[in-house]
Amino acid sequence: MNRTLILCKPDAVERGLVGAILARFEQKGLKIVAAELRQLDGETLAEHYAEHVGKPFYDDLVSFMGRSPALAAVLEGPDDTYAIVRSMMGATNPADASPGTIRGDYGTLFTENLVHGSDSNESAAREIGIFFPNL
Ligand code: RTP
Ligand code: MG
Repeated sequence: MNRTLILCKPDAVERGLVGAILARFEQKGLKIVAAELRQLDGETLAEHYAEHVGKPFYDDLVSFMGRSPALAAVLEGPDDTYAIVRSMMGATNPADASPGTIRGDYGTLFTENLVHGSDSNESAAREIGIFFPNL
């Protein structure tokens, strides 16, 4: 089986949308194999978002991602599960995301886009190692 990492971001937890988001993935047929609510610190976020460190939006991204707890989870499914998850998430900017996607149905703000999903099998392996090193 193939695995990927998701984060229900602080806005999703604050708004009580974790259940609705996880339900979508479960209904799709993906299996939750790990999940934990946790406050993300700067060190974890710098590792997780290493590709974005130093970009103009990085500080805002870190303050958003660390403002309250996030729900980290590992989903299991067929080959390239990351791609299934990414298509269910929708475009990065919720204002552009199609209806029927998580971002399209629940968000309007670029900065508060509800969910993270690994963007490749390599990213999935790396990110699962950050959040669930014993898995
Ligand atoms: P994520 O990593 O959070 O799942 O989102 P993504 O792949 O769809 O987007 P990515 O390019 O990896 O960007 C990570 C997060 O940074 C914020 N961002 N802001 N102002 C900007 O130009 C900008 N670009 C990206 C977004 O909140 C995005 O989710
Ligand atoms: Mg990304």
